[in-house]
Amino acid sequence: MAKPKKRYVCQACGSVSHRWQGQCADCAEWNTLVEDAPATVFSLKHDLSSGGRAVEFVDLDKPGEMPLRQKTGLAEFDRALGGGLVPGSAILMGGDPGIGKSTLLLQAAAKVAREGHSVAYVSGEEASGQVRMRAARLGLSDAPVKLAAATGVRDILTTLGQMETPKFLVIDSIQTMHSDTIEGAPGTVSQVRGCAFELIRYAKENGVALVLVGHVTKDGNIAGPRVLEHMVDVVMSFEGERSHQYRILRALKNRFGAVDEIGVFAMAGDGLEEVENPSMLFLSGREQPMAGSAVFPAMEGTRPVLLEIQALIVKLQSGATPRRAVVGWDNGRLAMLLAVLESRCGLSFSSAEVYLNVAGGYRLSDPAADLAVAAALVSALADKPLPNRSVWLGEVSLAGEVRPVAHGGVRLREAAKLGFDKGFGPSDTKNGSSGLDYSQLGQLANLVDRVMSS
Ligand code: TYD
Ligand code: MG
Repeated sequence: MAKPKKRYVCQACGSVSHRWQGQCADCAEWNTLVEDAPATVFSLKHDLSSGGRAVEFVDLDKPGEMPLRQKTGLAEFDRALGGGLVPGSAILMGGDPGIGKSTLLLQAAAKVAREGHSVAYVSGEEASGQVRMRAARLGLSDAPVKLAAATGVRDILTTLGQMETPKFLVIDSIQTMHSDTIEGAPGTVSQVRGCAFELIRYAKENGVALVLVGHVTKDGNIAGPRVLEHMVDVVMSFEGERSHQYRILRALKNRFGAVDEIGVFAMAGDGLEEVENPSMLFLSGREQPMAGSAVFPAMEGTRPVLLEIQALIVKLQSGATPRRAVVGWDNGRLAMLLAVLESRCGLSFSSAEVYLNVAGGYRLSDPAADLAVAAALVSALADKPLPNRSVWLGEVSLAGEVRPVAHGGVRLREAAKLGFDKGFGPSDTKNGSSGLDYSQLGQLANLVDRVMSS
């Protein structure tokens, strides 16, 4: 029999290679290839058309099978989940170290346990004593959460099999788990995948809502193979700047709900507080308008959130290549907007460094922000503040037109409610009976004229 071929798996992206290389050919990470147990290959001659067990097929409209969602009681968490935990589902929660994943899940676990459901929290990272100390700090010591410090999946599943099946199970984190049926150290691709598979199978068979905490690599992906994201039902990411107070819980994938709702939390001394009305959070509260700052009424799911976009333009003397740095927005979109401003409006940014920042550590992905970003850029370039208490919305096309956006009326009404009195945007958006003084800008050039002539 031929010797099984060695295979090497990249620990960053999960791609397989048949010889060891210093750099992964797929994701270009260095030193991530690790030898993996060879896969068993079945002979193609195997006949699979007999000897299996019968699989039950049901009709799509079979009634009475929809599982009820279990509310965690943390309304912002439930909102991001699309209405609560689904029994028998697996959720992967990613986020930077120290962002508050363990805190959030301990708070959710305590809430569910206080409702009288059985809840288990398994920490592979901290000793039970540490988790208890955190619970004491959060004022949750009296919640009947079953707490364990363990990393062996076999031990965990054996123990769970002997106690009351939990409604809600937290595994913190999947990278610390190991299974004795799989070779390799905890955290390697095969271990992460194998442990997740066993835990998810347990959750599905027993109707447990399972949360797996996943570490995040420096480029923002959940460490371990991408297959983990395929195995679970929901992928959530907990985001924010550690130096800022606000945290945003976002669903990146959800087999049971929409992925556009977010949960907003604030990290306080005694844990995460829910922020029910986030629309004012990310504004500076400054009275006097400043050059290079524009306010954008964003939509997060069904809720409007007002954001301040800040631009800084530094003219360069020499012919050095100017920098473009973006925090909280898309690099490629900034490059596109600068190109449109140059070619359609005759402005020049080519010998200037451009810095763009979304205030409050917020990550913005709404294309309707184009006009606000352009307004901040033009205002910074001209060193002229935009009109006081104004909001800007609209998508900008490559031809320099300002295009309509979804939910224009809702956004403007929210801005009006928060004390803004001027709105600028595409021509076919009505002011939504918001009471705002709304100016239509059909072309990006109209914006430039307005700012330059003010
Ligand atoms: P943690 O939940 O341990 O983060 P993760 O599990 O994502 O790594 O949160 C750790 C941070 O949260 C830590 O830097 C301190 C801060 N924190 C507070 O500010 N208030 C609190 O009540 C708690 C428990 C943590
Ligand atoms: Mg943690």
